[in-house]
Order: sequence, then structure tokens, then C-alpha cells
Amino acid sequence: MSNIKISKQDLQLLQKKYTNLDPIFKKIEKGYPIQYLIGNVDFYGYKIDVNPNVLIPRFETENLVYKTIEYIKDLDLRDASVLEIGTGSGCISISLKGELESLEITAIDINKKALMTARSNARKNKVDINFIYKDIFKYDLVNNYDVIISNPPYITPGDEVSENTKYEPYNAIYVDGDPLLYYREIIKVSLNALNKKGLIAFEIDEDHGQELVKISKEYYPKAKISLEKDLAGKDRYLFIINE
Ligand SMILES: C[S@@+](CC[C@H](N)C(=O)[O-])C[C@H]1O[C@@H](n2cnc3c(N)ncnc32)[C@H](O)[C@@H]1O
Repeated sequence: MSNIKISKQDLQLLQKKYTNLDPIFKKIEKGYPIQYLIGNVDFYGYKIDVNPNVLIPRFETENLVYKTIEYIKDLDLRDASVLEIGTGSGCISISLKGELESLEITAIDINKKALMTARSNARKNKVDINFIYKDIFKYDLVNNYDVIISNPPYITPGDEVSENTKYEPYNAIYVDGDPLLYYREIIKVSLNALNKKGLIAFEIDEDHGQELVKISKEYYPKAKISLEKDLAGKDRYLFIINE
């Protein structure tokens, strides 16, 4: 266990799960995510199982959930119909539904194995979510949603990323070419899918904030556009509030 740093809590969880820790430490040394080895993470107080088919939920995303809940309450959208695009482990939808039971949530993903994990996570957390297999680029949205939320892929190959992201699903992280491809598509489809009074909530990369504000204003000239920071002071969230 020479070069690796493991918190006491994680070590205890690993000890509980594995009798022989040597091969486990070797994997961790090579950058294999400890969360996959433990098998779950705590996200917004909910236990979310993770495996190499799903992105490991990030701390910043908990804040997306927190902020979205505040907007939903302020806008009186507690009975909202919500669409999550790119649900992965299901962490966003599960915590939203867990906190606000009257929301009706549909969550889509292009990765069938991720959807299986998300469904199982929803079951274990005793929340009811409609998970469906869809590609956002081929999805004719007919329903009207009050809230659309997404933390889509935005890293382009060649961008600097941390070592252990190489073990996470490529489709969950990378977008080829235009890093804003998913945002443009989601904003575009939202014109047919978002109710007049509605909210779009995005997690974003700090470098794309201003450009996304510009795009949002083009599509929603009358909406309130709010670019908000994470706990490290970086632009991390974008909300389009259409009233
Ligand atoms: C950055 S991950 C976010 C996962 C989870 N919502 C979270 O915040 O931890 C993006 C997710 O979008 C999904 N995805 C990628 N391309 C997609 C597409 N064309 N249509 C629907 N989902 C897609 C990926 O499979 C992945 O689960």
C-alpha cells in the first residue's frame, strides 16, 4: 500500500468487501477508481451503486441537485414533470425524486448497461422513475416537461483529465469535436419540449460558461439566464428560467 492514499473510511469498506487487499491496492496504484472497487458512493445522502458502466457521481453534481431543488421550490414546480438527459447511475434523478416526491421524472440514457444500474439504484432507494433508452440526438420529444436537467459529456479528446477517468465509460465523458454539442442539442429540443413556464438546469465546464450564456440568450431571449459557481468558485452551473 506504499504509494496510495486511502481514507480510513474507504479502507474499512474495502476490508469489509475483500479478504485479500493486495490485488486491490495494485489496481488503485494504477489509477483504478476506488469507488468502483467499493461498489457504491454516497450522493446527496443516497447510496448509489457504481460500476465501470456508469460515471462516478461528482461532488459538484450534488450542488446541481441542491440548486435545482431550490429553483423548483421558488418557481412552485413541485408537481413538475422532469426530464433528465444522460442519467448514468441515476444519481441526479434519484436524489431529486427522493427529496421532492411529487415530481414525475423521466430519465434517458444511450447506455443500456448504465440504465440497468440506474433502475437498480432507483429500486434500492425506493423511488419511482421512468428510465428509458434513448439517444438525445434521435429523440423526437413530444411530451411537455417543466424541468429539463442534464450533466452531459463535454470533454473533448486531448483535454486534460484526471488519471482515473480512463476507467469510466468514454460516452459518459467525451464528445468529439464541439464540446458544446450536447448543450446546443438539448437547448434546441427544449424549444418543443419545455413548457412555457419551465427550467433548464445544466452542469457545465468552467470554460464554457460565457459561450453557453450567449447560446441560451439566442434561444430564450426573454428568459432569466443564471451562470452559477461551484464551491471552488468556478462557473459550473447554468440555469435557464423561463417564466
Ligand atoms: C457526464 S455523464 C452524467 C451521468 C450522471 N447524470 C451524473 O451526473 O453523474 C453523461 C451521461 O450521458 C449519457 N449519454 C451520452 N450520449 C448520450 C446520448 N446521445 N443520448 C442520451 N444519453 C447520452 C452517457 O451514457 C452518460 O451516462
